[in-house]
Amino acid sequence: PVAQPASATGEHPPGAALVGTKYVKVPKNDPSQAKEANDAPKFPIAPRMTADKGRVPHVASTQQYLEMWQRSVDKPAEFFAEQARELLSWMTPFSVAHHGDLHHGDASWFLDGTLNASYICVDRHAFATPDKVAIIYEADHPDRPHVEITYRELLRQVCQLAGALHAQGLRKGDAVGIYLPNTAHAVVAMLACARLGLVHSVIFAGFSAEALRDRLRDCQCKVLITADQGMRAGKEINIKSIADEALREAPMVQKVIVHKRTGNPNVKMDPTRDIYWDEAVKSHRPYCPPVPMAAEDPLFMLYTSGSTGKPKGLMHTTAGYLLGAALSTKYVFDVHEGDKFACVADVGWITGHSYIVYGPLALGTTTLVFEGVPTWPEPDMYWRLIQKHKLTQFYTSPTALRALRKFGDEPVKKYDLTSVRVLGSVGEPIDPNTWMWLHDVVGKGEAAIVDTYWQTETGAHVLTPLPGAIETKPGSATVPFFGVRPAILDPQTGEELEGNDVSGVLAFKQAWPSMARTVFGDHDRYLETYVRPYPGYYFTGDGCTRDHDGYLWIKGRVDDVINNAGHRLSVAEIESALTAHETCAEAAVVGAPDEIAGQCVIAFVTLKHTHIPTSEIPALLTYAVRRSIGPIATPKRIIIVPDLPKTRSGKVMRRILRKIVANETDSLGDLSTLSDPSVVQTIIDLHNNKQ
Ligand code: PRX
Repeated sequence: PVAQPASATGEHPPGAALVGTKYVKVPKNDPSQAKEANDAPKFPIAPRMTADKGRVPHVASTQQYLEMWQRSVDKPAEFFAEQARELLSWMTPFSVAHHGDLHHGDASWFLDGTLNASYICVDRHAFATPDKVAIIYEADHPDRPHVEITYRELLRQVCQLAGALHAQGLRKGDAVGIYLPNTAHAVVAMLACARLGLVHSVIFAGFSAEALRDRLRDCQCKVLITADQGMRAGKEINIKSIADEALREAPMVQKVIVHKRTGNPNVKMDPTRDIYWDEAVKSHRPYCPPVPMAAEDPLFMLYTSGSTGKPKGLMHTTAGYLLGAALSTKYVFDVHEGDKFACVADVGWITGHSYIVYGPLALGTTTLVFEGVPTWPEPDMYWRLIQKHKLTQFYTSPTALRALRKFGDEPVKKYDLTSVRVLGSVGEPIDPNTWMWLHDVVGKGEAAIVDTYWQTETGAHVLTPLPGAIETKPGSATVPFFGVRPAILDPQTGEELEGNDVSGVLAFKQAWPSMARTVFGDHDRYLETYVRPYPGYYFTGDGCTRDHDGYLWIKGRVDDVINNAGHRLSVAEIESALTAHETCAEAAVVGAPDEIAGQCVIAFVTLKHTHIPTSEIPALLTYAVRRSIGPIATPKRIIIVPDLPKTRSGKVMRRILRKIVANETDSLGDLSTLSDPSVVQTIIDLHNNKQ
């Protein structure tokens, strides 16, 4: 059926009103948008995909991809049932593969089956290949020896921690907060929760005490697993003291398990509440049975920012999510026996969940956890890791690559990187120059590049090339993954734009197993954000072009979300952190183009008349944002202005500010609707430092 535009259903404001209110930079269906795409070169299947005659890619031709994809969208229940039987292990087999749809937001998969994610990721490999390395943990500094954990040992560690959690009275369905540095312990903590059916909520260790507190409160965590300190580029981060501050206002957390990461004796412990990890686990058996979970039982929740309101706790299920993670790891990275897989994200983000933990471990692969940063102590940390461990897949972000590229080719050329077959990119659009550098310098023109587009909500890749089957174009996420039926919609009418050479907003026409099922505690918000804007479709929030070959090009967010270094930041959240400060009257936050981070945060603020602009105020406001959200949301600039550009009805025109920060002041558009058009020139001058 042809989807009704959102406006026609009466469930949403009229389509036109969507533009300029919620969705901000809506790409028009302008064929010139596809020009850059249409001029792009195309690269054939990478030589390393076929170099080893004994190893045929899982999908070895475009034809094979097309057949598999077609079946996955025409007969999803059948296709995914087969995959779920092959890739997962079932305690009780399912008989109903799929139920529900996007119209109602009730899509569910393998409903009557039971399974356990920790069993799938650990036990079955501990039984079959006990001595195989499950996790390689590389700490913050290259001089610190790495740690290898076999599947046999991983099972012991997971079981002991699960025992400790059980002893705290935690039972299936209870929520556990994890606020840990990116270490093997974080992986063990997640799997220990999964073993008991505890819903983990990992909070990235770069979030502030306030952000941690809000997330712990929202999901009513009973236990927090954290560390004494973290290490980042040689500096100690006082994780425990941040956690202590958060817990002062999160009394539902009754127990805190603390991993001794640095062992700093000055870290304070509350003897009535806190216990060191080693103490907590030592009285528990190294085996504990996995709890059978229904396929649709939650595996975890993960908070992410949207265009409005507080962060959403997106809920992922046990079977559908795990299948998406395993399936995409297998096919997109073409994982084979003996591979060593590295995703250098943080487990605090969905990328870490799916491609450090659940995907690789479900397949029984060796996965690398890297605690450090790419540029410290030298800008060769990634290349060093690849050579040292002979990594076969390496998954990183455009921001990291841009930062590394600035150091030139020499740090890369020092290392033998020939073990890598697939180089992956995720989190933000990759510009063609960075793609080419990855291809030519890191991959020597021989490794496959996969630009994988997906979201916290999608659980796993949704647009991506398969390295043995799809020719690539620098800057394009290419084609849909299995089960994904993309549509480009006219943002105003909701009408689907058929054919090639079209631009609009990206939506998906049918449900796929790994999609998030709800926003924890607020299903209506889930419907409102994802399925009501264009009924019958899942709305991604991204602009997209389909070029003349049918390849898809992501154009970035069309809502009030800033993608800074791959971190998704909400304009509304940063603005409310600013206006909560005693000096600030109003704030308008926009994303500006940034050479390394893709986008950076620029804030325009007006002060209360009780305050005069001083050079200290931007620093105070910066601190307010860091306190409320964390260092990741730090504005690059805070510009104090006499007034914000507003319509006569008082609405702030961020569109104009976006143009100013992008230095596109010659195309500001119609200013006549502003209550005071003259303020625009003042803001431009202040932005250009002329005043
Ligand atoms: O705008 C898209 C961008 O990141 C958003 C999702 O952010 P998050 O939920 O934090 O997940 C990031 C890791 C999966 C998307 O809406 N994005 C992600 N990958 C790409 C991308 N934009 C362009 N190309 C990509 N490959």
